[in-house]
Amino acid sequence: MAGPRACGANPLVRGRPPGRPSAREERDEGVPRGPGGPPHSHARFRVRGSARYNGEFPMPTRGLFITFEGMDGSGKTTQIERLAARLRAMGRTVVETAEPGGPPISMKIRRILLDSANQELSPVTEVLLYFASRAQNVDEWIVPALARGDIVLSDRFTDSSLVYQGHGRALGGAAIAELERIACRGVKPDLTILVDVDAGASLARARARNAAHPHCETRMDDQSLEFHRRVWDAYHALAAAEPDRMKVVDGRAAIDAIELEIWNIVSAYV
Ligand SMILES: Nc1ncnc2c1ncn2[C@@H]1O[C@H](COP(=O)(O)OP(=O)(O)OP(=O)(O)O)[C@@H](O)[C@H]1O
Ligand SMILES: [Mg+2]
Repeated sequence: MAGPRACGANPLVRGRPPGRPSAREERDEGVPRGPGGPPHSHARFRVRGSARYNGEFPMPTRGLFITFEGMDGSGKTTQIERLAARLRAMGRTVVETAEPGGPPISMKIRRILLDSANQELSPVTEVLLYFASRAQNVDEWIVPALARGDIVLSDRFTDSSLVYQGHGRALGGAAIAELERIACRGVKPDLTILVDVDAGASLARARARNAAHPHCETRMDDQSLEFHRRVWDAYHALAAAEPDRMKVVDGRAAIDAIELEIWNIVSAYV
């Protein structure tokens, strides 16, 4: 008889505070993984300036805030990893964060949000938890990094709440805008890359990946195809409404081709 399904946090989730290497770099360099690991000594990851912002909002930012959006399995994490590597090769300091998540408190909220066991989570609780996670991330990681002049790459941000909870769950755009005002306090992406893959293809990719790397963070992947179609429609409406900020790349193309297309877009900003 088969044993219990291996279950836990998604091993592929990215998120890296300033001063800490990626899991892959930790492995490569023999540094222990996880929050208890020693600080990384490589110059690329050194923290400049104070570790925390003094709490005043809005604040002047010198950095660049780029977010990635798209359906589950569209290829956001794959492309963020490649973009981060290119930017670091240029000598830029990059902070990577993946929502829901980022700093430890946000990661605890992530566990509630994505655990496939939490099917009874109500739509209102869900949206409040996403914004709670984001508020902590904005305060603890994103704003200090932007104030230092770093580049922040976020795997999802407020646009995801708009399309998944505002439209997918039908909570409406006004509620999301009000929560954004409270949680983000004026912090908005300078540039958003929408990795465009339709709902059916994205679910197939996400489910294949979840089968290859079993974990319990599948609550959103478990939603119906109809839900994911509403999300896809909402992403396209958003991209049409904000073409200067949101750039659409075809997520069905080859990974290398998408990387190049994204680099052509981002190059104009760095
Ligand atoms: N352009 C592509 N063509 C084919 N497969 C791809 C492409 N980009 C990514 N993949 C594969 O699809 C799966 C999902 O990719 P990835 O984890 O980067 O997506 P994601 O958008 O971050 O998903 P999620 O929102 O669920 O975290 C992975 O197995 C990845 O290797
Ligand atoms: Mg991902």
